[in-house]
Amino acid sequence: MGPIFRLSPSILSADFTKLGEQIRTLESVHTPWLHFDVMDGQFVPPVSFGEVVLRSIRPATKMFLDVHLMVTEPDRFIEPYAKAGADMFTVHAEACVHLDRTLQHIHESGMKAGVALNPATPLSVLDYVLDKVDMVLIMTVNPGYGGQKYITAMTEKIRALRKKLDEAGYPDLPIEVDGGINEKTINTVLEAGASVIVAGSAVFKGDIGKNAEKLMESLAIWESAN
Ligand code: DX5
Ligand code: ZN
Repeated sequence: MGPIFRLSPSILSADFTKLGEQIRTLESVHTPWLHFDVMDGQFVPPVSFGEVVLRSIRPATKMFLDVHLMVTEPDRFIEPYAKAGADMFTVHAEACVHLDRTLQHIHESGMKAGVALNPATPLSVLDYVLDKVDMVLIMTVNPGYGGQKYITAMTEKIRALRKKLDEAGYPDLPIEVDGGINEKTINTVLEAGASVIVAGSAVFKGDIGKNAEKLMESLAIWESAN
């Protein structure tokens, strides 16, 4: 069957004076996922937004809410996000002293569990937790800011992870990529084995509906050809 193909626009690049309207535009073009970049000012320098924002969006959309925790000790946030209605809760391996236990807690709360890796973090941190992981997020920029440039060395990392997952018996486990993905870089990451595509500035700068449709078309073309 293979992994799912999805576009997950990051609201970090949204215009917050029009957030509801911009989410409705994404819904109108049938964008399946929505990506929430949660930053605590410690794991990464900026502070972004928290579960209060997700709670107010939850009743307004059926989109799958994909939460990326760029925070230290993400366990603190499992319960609040589960209550607020998050679907996927992705923690950074670098931020978890007890990653195995954190993944169990996420599942116990009823959410799906993702693990994110910074560009310099080796894939081997996943070796003994794969059976508890629903998605791996490969950071293709250093986390903290939208609008950065794709780190080209990450193409090989995605490829190596896809191979590792296939060989370990997880051919359906999706790889999400985050940072610097646009019309130019999307085919590179798809070809390397990614299937869930986060895009912030490439969706929210300019015509949001058209941008999302274009990226989803690239996904559909790739999916039908492979
Ligand atoms: C980076 C965030 C990303 C960011 C991506 O720290 O995790 O989700 O919003 O933004 P673009 O797509 O503009 O690189
Ligand atoms: Zn993100």
